[in-house]
This record gives sequence, structure tokens and C-alpha cells, in this order.
Amino acid sequence: MNFASDNVTGASPEILAAIAAANHGPAMPYGADEISRRLEQRFAELFEHEVAVFPVATGTAANALALACLTPVYGAIYCHEEAHIATDECGAPEFFTGGAKLVACPGEHGKLTPGVLKPRLAGAGVVHNVQPAAISITQETEAGTIYRLAEIAALSALARRHGLALHMDGARFANAVASLGCAPADLTWRAGVDALSFGATKNGALAAEAVVFFDPKRAESFAYRRKRAGHLLSKQRFVAAQLEAYLAGDLWLRNARHANAMAARLGGGLAALPGARLLHPIEGNEVFVELGERAIEGLAAAGFGFYRWGEAPVLRLVTAFDTSSEAVERFLRVAQEALGGATTP
Ligand SMILES: Cc1ncc(COP(=O)(O)O)c(C=O)c1O
Repeated sequence: MNFASDNVTGASPEILAAIAAANHGPAMPYGADEISRRLEQRFAELFEHEVAVFPVATGTAANALALACLTPVYGAIYCHEEAHIATDECGAPEFFTGGAKLVACPGEHGKLTPGVLKPRLAGAGVVHNVQPAAISITQETEAGTIYRLAEIAALSALARRHGLALHMDGARFANAVASLGCAPADLTWRAGVDALSFGATKNGALAAEAVVFFDPKRAESFAYRRKRAGHLLSKQRFVAAQLEAYLAGDLWLRNARHANAMAARLGGGLAALPGARLLHPIEGNEVFVELGERAIEGLAAAGFGFYRWGEAPVLRLVTAFDTSSEAVERFLRVAQEALGGATTP
């Protein structure tokens, strides 16, 4: 009954089983184990492309270290003003890039557009300005929406014209692939993405993310940066085992499809209630809804967990691979009663 985040979940049984299975006998450390060595090939198959893959333990590390490979220290990284890298990473991208500047840009429903970015690239070649180096987009976005392939292609065309790299924060990449029903390749390198933070933790892993570079040349310094950042795990086999199990039998997509279906039901149910207003289209596993204060109090009193979003009476509700339809239906019933109460004089 907790819709605060897809981080409130435990881990998928398949992933816990893979960790237990990896717990037999010695294995060489720091990524020299058998499971880690298989990983690059597995990701190459998934993305239908040569890749360089680096497991890390957190999404913040994935983003900050990926971006550090894509920008000089005097670079500008363009991102949405609500991007996790700009709002929730405690300055890690600035720190690990050695001082590159995040340029936070507005955009409807959590998305960047070429129109918003173009005028902001004007400082190229001006010695007083940070130099345009990278665009970072989040897929699915922090508003729970999903960039279409054409939207990504338009951003990457702009990036190419101006010599910028394109990074994708894919903490919820699985939800986006499940929602669009496209190939992972379509959503990444075929649309011009250079580096992907491939999330797994929110969608069933215990602590596992992977940084995927589609041009291994761009990744040349990554191994050193990761070690320096304290993210080269000596027992990396256990992180690699999580990622391997996450991809096996399409667990990652099954989990994401379930989470998305729960969000669609939750959002659809809320949209039908008088007094509730959705802020963004429901496209992945997040619902942003404006409700009255009394309704929010009623839901909290009934024991539901959620985050309030900003000053207004807005909730962010996140579903996950283990969200039950009973919890969703109960939330909708309590919301309906609470809203009824709110409108009764
Ligand atoms: C969009 C996005 N990116 C990255 C992350 C990764 O964060 P963490 O460092 O907590 O794993 C999160 C987690 O909340 C997120 O929502």
C-alpha cells in the first residue's frame, strides 16, 4: 500500500535466487568473474550493437560517471529542470565531471525539446561561457511521461549538429520500452543516444545499474573514473548476477509491464473521480494527481504511503513490479470516499 516510489519495493525472487546461485566458491574480484565477463555479450545482444558495459550500484553513480565521460570540465550539460541529475543527486554530476555545469531547462511534461535548447547553445566558442557538451534526457521522465522515438531523434539531430553527446538517464528504461513496445536499440543508439544509465534497482534488482556506451571509445576513461568514485565493487559478481537475471527470460519487461498496467489502472480510476485532476498523461509507472487536502489526509489516515509533490495538494504515486491490483483498487475506493467527503458541505 505504499506508492511513494518504486524504491520502496523489495527485489524480484528471480534476482535473489541469482545472487544465491552466484554465492558458490571463489570468483575473481573486480569484474574478472565469469558472470561479469558474460555481461557485455548479453548487453550487446539486447541492444543489437557493440557496447561497453559497466555495472555500478546506484543510479546517481551511473549518471554522474557516464556524464563525466561525455563532457570536458568546462562543459555544459543540458537537462530538464526536474531532472534527477539536477534535483536529487547532491551535485554528483558536477563533482564527478570536475565542474561541468548543469543547465536546467523548462519543458512540458518533463521533456526537453530542440526549441527550448537551441537558444541556450549560443555560448559555443565564447570564452566566457561554459561550452555546450551534452544533453541528458530521462526516460521515462520525472513526470512519468515517455519520449517518443521521433522526439529523441530530433534531440539527437540537434546534438549532432552542435557536437554534443546525448545521455539517457534510464532509471526507468524498462518502463519506457514496455510502454512503447519498441526494441531497446530503437530507443537508444538508433535514435542517437550515446550513453545510457540502464536502471534495474527500481524494477526488481537489489542494487544494480549498468552504464552502457554505444561507442566504446567514449568509455575509455570510465573504468578509472568508476574506481576513483568507489564504485568498482570487489565482489562485482553479485551485481552482475542481478543484471543477468534481470534480463533473463525478459524479467525486466515482465516487471515493467505489470508496473505500467497498475499505473494505468490507478491513473484511469483517479481521472474518473470528480475532484481529481491528472497533471501528466499516464505513460509509464507514475501518476501525478491533484486532490483536495482532505482527500490526501483521508488517504494518509487509511495507511497509504505516497510523496506530496511541491506546495500544491499534488501526489506522486509510483507503481512497481510487485504492486497488487488489490492495493490499487483500495486506493481508488478510499480516494473516492475521501473526495466525496471533501465535496459534502
Ligand atoms: C530519474 C532517476 N534517475 C536516477 C535515479 C537513481 O537514483 P539512486 O542514486 O538513488 O539509485 C532515480 C532514483 O530515484 C531516478 O528517479
